[in-house]
Amino acid sequence: MVRINEHYLKLQASYLFSDIAKRISAFQKAHPDREIIRLGIGDVTRPLPYVCIEAFHRAVDEMARESTFRGYGPEQGYAFLREKIAAQDFQARGADISADEIFVSDGAKCDTGNIQEIFAADAKIAVPDPVYPVYADTNVMAGRTGVFADGRYENLVYMDSTKENGFVPSLPQQPVDLIYLCFPNNPTGATITKAQLKTWVDFARENKAVILFDAAYERFIQDDSLPRSIYEIEGAREVAIEFRSFSKTAGFTGTRCAYTVVPETCMAYDSSGGKHSLRNLWNRRHTTKFNSVSYPVQRAAEAIYSDEGKAQVQDLIDYYMKNAAVIREEMTALGFDVAGGENAPYIWVDGKTDSWKFFDMLLEKAGVVCTPGAGFGKCGEGFIRISAFNTFENVRKALKKIREVKF
Ligand code: MLT
Repeated sequence: MVRINEHYLKLQASYLFSDIAKRISAFQKAHPDREIIRLGIGDVTRPLPYVCIEAFHRAVDEMARESTFRGYGPEQGYAFLREKIAAQDFQARGADISADEIFVSDGAKCDTGNIQEIFAADAKIAVPDPVYPVYADTNVMAGRTGVFADGRYENLVYMDSTKENGFVPSLPQQPVDLIYLCFPNNPTGATITKAQLKTWVDFARENKAVILFDAAYERFIQDDSLPRSIYEIEGAREVAIEFRSFSKTAGFTGTRCAYTVVPETCMAYDSSGGKHSLRNLWNRRHTTKFNSVSYPVQRAAEAIYSDEGKAQVQDLIDYYMKNAAVIREEMTALGFDVAGGENAPYIWVDGKTDSWKFFDMLLEKAGVVCTPGAGFGKCGEGFIRISAFNTFENVRKALKKIREVKF
């Protein structure tokens, strides 16, 4: 008799964003004439930058000719892309990262979900609360937690991100092995300073732990004193893996391209205390289970590193950040306490009521979709997340409808 992986039975019935999608489609079915404006899932709405489209077309044409056709590429990604990433995303900011420490992939969601495979089955995991659900769920699937009780999985160490601590959690009070951090944060939009991030790097070094740093939203940082990469912090090469994505940066949510940085000097240990480079382990895993991203997609991603590409990406970011500013302003004017939206495309609103109730009310009364904070964890209860990724016109329309709701 074939048996299932029973750890899956501990998971909540469905993934947060699938659950929300089901509720929206039920609402739409019941009210076919109502317009719905989606400020829920962080999915981009602007077309790809034109430089990417041109690069895409050129690469597709290459695939059509025998002399330039390409079959399997390097599993880690083509050198043309990895070298630009290393030079421009890291070395240009003083972060010592080389091309052979970069692994191109089809998404930060997949990478943040898969990375736990290279760590021990009994590794102690620390996650912020609220948290992007992928970090916790994938560790549940791998059997590193107990059951879900009272809004939390047993055996996970939760690090509360609250209004009181500015949504930057305190260091764990116990030794842990893996620490997930995300800045600018999804869902709260909070940022971390270099000095704060240094305390995490020091903690990881003292505890022989590894930080899994999700920097998928770094392009939205407006305050140049904030770190865009954990490798801007001294010592991070020994204890941190970083995840980046072209999804929100350049509109690749449907096109799929991301990368993970695993420095050669980032170490973990075997049961006898022997040191192992995580770069080598991830390389083994990546080459066994992945064949990289298609050639045209990697060429399209490469295009954002040209001068023209940089300008077009900046226009995209400015567009969404203008939405974020308007959402912040209007929600504040309506009397809500608001965080995020200044260096991140998410606005975290204290609804002062049950998150799902607030979600239902906005959907029913305004036809606006947000994401209930409780879906990101116990500390998200009472909040909703509003995404800035829709068009400016839709954001304005949504806010007008929200203004008409009697709270
Ligand atoms: C979100 O809305 O949190 C993101 O779209 C999720 C993701 O990037 O997978």
